Amino acid sequence: MAFGFGKPHFLGIDFGTASIKAVELTVENNRPVLVNYGQVSLADLENGTPPQGRSYEEEIVLHLKTLLERMKPESRSAYVAMPAFIGLISLIELPVMEEAELQEAVRFEAHKYIPSSLDEVALSWEVIGTHTVPGEGEKLEVLLVAALNKEVARYEHYVAGAALDLDFLELETFSIVRSIIGDEPGMSLVIDIGSRATNLVLVENGLVRVSRNLDVGGRDITRVLAESLNITEERAKILKRSGKDFLIAPESALTFPSLQMIASEADRMLAAYQAKHSGVQCKQIVLSGGTALFAGLVQYYSTLFKVPVVLGNPWRNIEYDALLEETLRVFGTSFSVAIGLALRGTDTLLKKAADMPFKKPKKEFSLKALFTKKI
Ligand SMILES: Nc1ncnc2c1ncn2[C@@H]1O[C@H](COP(=O)(O)OP(=O)(O)OP(=O)(O)O)[C@@H](O)[C@H]1O
Ligand SMILES: [Mg+2]
Repeated sequence: MAFGFGKPHFLGIDFGTASIKAVELTVENNRPVLVNYGQVSLADLENGTPPQGRSYEEEIVLHLKTLLERMKPESRSAYVAMPAFIGLISLIELPVMEEAELQEAVRFEAHKYIPSSLDEVALSWEVIGTHTVPGEGEKLEVLLVAALNKEVARYEHYVAGAALDLDFLELETFSIVRSIIGDEPGMSLVIDIGSRATNLVLVENGLVRVSRNLDVGGRDITRVLAESLNITEERAKILKRSGKDFLIAPESALTFPSLQMIASEADRMLAAYQAKHSGVQCKQIVLSGGTALFAGLVQYYSTLFKVPVVLGNPWRNIEYDALLEETLRVFGTSFSVAIGLALRGTDTLLKKAADMPFKKPKKEFSLKALFTKKI
């Protein structure tokens, strides 16, 4: 965050596998406004060892510095996300009890989900609702979020290495939901397909309910194209992004096991959730991540699911110069995480703007305040 002519700026940084993406927002007339964005490819690190004997971590810091030199953001601090697959998100049910007792009960319960000692993890939790279990009465629904301290330290190290302060750290799951779904009512399933990983997130009225990760993504699509068409991975990558439809077009349709796996996991998640919460209908499946742009994917998934499948638009609540329309459409869903992070900053400001002057939010290193309390 920075104060340029009195206006605060918020910088969100997403450390993806394929690229580091950053977005800087400010607020004008109570709306988030895009002031800066950028991306640096990590393609040179994707396969094998980094050059010149540097570690992967050192390379990430160097790439981040390059990105910041190009962007020259106003902000000297950042909102940062960690990949969902290094964390844990779990919805647990506990008997109704006082807040003071809850702390103990959650820690006790967390032991069942976290194999390491609780001293080694950053743990955060929030009561997000209640649920009546037949025969057992009312239960509190508590969302548990955890990540290993050493992973938290890794991301602290990245930003410190580029001489930035860390304003806020969260699992990317929450950033994606903030930009793709926001406060939209009803239940949606968000599927964020990146390069190496896929996040599936069941969201109800803007709150994360269930989250799953799969170790598949755009890289696997590139590999199938390279193998099936007998071309190099470099060529396959270009072809993949050319807009040619390899999914639906009858003359060129190929089979992509990774996309099928994602669909099966989505089905499983929806079935399990609906078995437990009868009457809750998923209104849509929203695709996010760079691979959501794969030609024909929305149509392909539309034939597999009973609910409508749409392409997410993380820019939808942000004002930007009309000249950027085309560029931002091409980047599209790959910026969901970076935008969601910067929106966390503007949200803090907008919610507080009415009754108090802007203050720098307290540093939150321990995954605290990951979601708005709505009970
Ligand atoms: N138009 C397109 N068609 C198909 N694939 C695309 C397109 N644009 C980008 N991609 C793919 O999207 C992937 C990058 O997506 P994204 O930026 O969401 O990943 P990431 O965040 O860097 O990786 P991860 O989240 O897995 O760590 C790459 O595999 C890239 O080839
Ligand atoms: Mg990603």
